[in-house]
Amino acid sequence: MEQQLIKKKEIVSILLRNNILVNRELLRKLSEPRIVDEWHRALLDGTPPAKLLHPAQEGDSRAKVVWEYDDVPKKRSVQDFVDYFNARYRQIHKILSGRAELQNLTSISRIRMKKDKERCSVIGIISDKNVTKNEHIMLSVEDSTGTIKILINKSNKDLYTQAQDLVFDEVIGICGQAAEDILFAETIVIPDIPIQEPKLAPEETYVCVLSCIHVGSAGFEHERFNNFIKWTCGEFGDDTMRAIAKKLRYIFACGDLVDGVGIYPAQEKELSITDIKEQYAECARLLSQIPKHITLLLAPGNHDVGRISEPQPRLLKEYAKPLYDLPNALLVTNPSIINIHAGEHFPGVDVLMYHGYSFDDYSECVPSIKHSGTHISDRAALVMRFLLQRRHLAPQHTSTLYIPDARYDPLVIERVPDLFVAGHIHKAGHLQHRSATIVAGSCFQKKTDFQEKVGHDPDPGVVPVINLQTRQVTMLRF
Ligand SMILES: [Fe+2]
Repeated sequence: MEQQLIKKKEIVSILLRNNILVNRELLRKLSEPRIVDEWHRALLDGTPPAKLLHPAQEGDSRAKVVWEYDDVPKKRSVQDFVDYFNARYRQIHKILSGRAELQNLTSISRIRMKKDKERCSVIGIISDKNVTKNEHIMLSVEDSTGTIKILINKSNKDLYTQAQDLVFDEVIGICGQAAEDILFAETIVIPDIPIQEPKLAPEETYVCVLSCIHVGSAGFEHERFNNFIKWTCGEFGDDTMRAIAKKLRYIFACGDLVDGVGIYPAQEKELSITDIKEQYAECARLLSQIPKHITLLLAPGNHDVGRISEPQPRLLKEYAKPLYDLPNALLVTNPSIINIHAGEHFPGVDVLMYHGYSFDDYSECVPSIKHSGTHISDRAALVMRFLLQRRHLAPQHTSTLYIPDARYDPLVIERVPDLFVAGHIHKAGHLQHRSATIVAGSCFQKKTDFQEKVGHDPDPGVVPVINLQTRQVTMLRF
């Protein structure tokens, strides 16, 4: 009891030193021993006192991290890659195995024992893909029991078009006629997300998606970002924009919060702030002007501090402490899943947040995306839909840098998201796929020389906002 009193006194004196009014309500809170212990521990750990009073989960904003990457640092070996791909296979096998289209599901080794032309199905990981002399598509797929060739006949137009989009290392189901060591495909089943109605919030509430702010870059769009901040405060835009701002509760910033240091050769010539800690301090200074009832979800991207391999852990505290000190900010891993706006009569929506480092590859290597008639910078939402259908954020081995985790593949999309938000491409886009709203954020950085050279067409200062009551997406221009 005496211990509790000492702790309570210490808490009150720290609060007073930080000019925080210790009123009756606050003292009532401190009458609970659990709160006293929690706050005392948090203050000793260096948590800013203001954060105790305004935790991001409270108030109108309700955000809870439901999945983050739990990194276990260790030396990786070849076996970790084997275990990693086996884990991916198991996770997606679980999603596919219940599918009605996959009749007579069997293992690859058992197909060889089947009588000629028997119809059966297998689930396998694509280890090879070729076009034969006669222009059919030939796949090699593996499971833990063996490898088999899959032939997709060019005369089956729909199936052939579907097969053209298949990428290496994705896990699919195939139903067809088996003949010794080959399966003549009739149906290809990708895991996809189920067909269901989108979950809609009971009241009008908005979420906005930022990405690639690039604070510290010489090309950082100060004015546009200041307009964005003013808008969150209700001080920018027309009546419609101001009405949205009033009901804005969540901001997802999907990585590349700062431009970083040493990300590419001679980057220092293109920086206005050359110290990484100062870049984060400036980023935090800007974000601190956003009203505190709006929760900020902050994840790293390939320009941020820390390792580039995915999953990326939360931003390193020793560099990004000012962001941790923001009372309304939640720092999360890339990727992560955050449930927002749950209430008594609403389960909330699950938001899958990913930076999007793998996106460049798929906009070029998937024929239906490459030949979609869209400019390379307008393909982010198409790529996101493609990945959601594959239930994997970067199926093809070379499409991103990753850490092979032997326990499970953290880039598999196991939980069906309600919103899938990302960035990286520097141009906003959105589409609805079944129950999921897919939204790509733009950027707050002018076109770089590199983007000019590779023909990218960024559109800075465009912010998509999602109405959780209708799932309608509006693009705001700052
Ligand atoms: Fe990026």
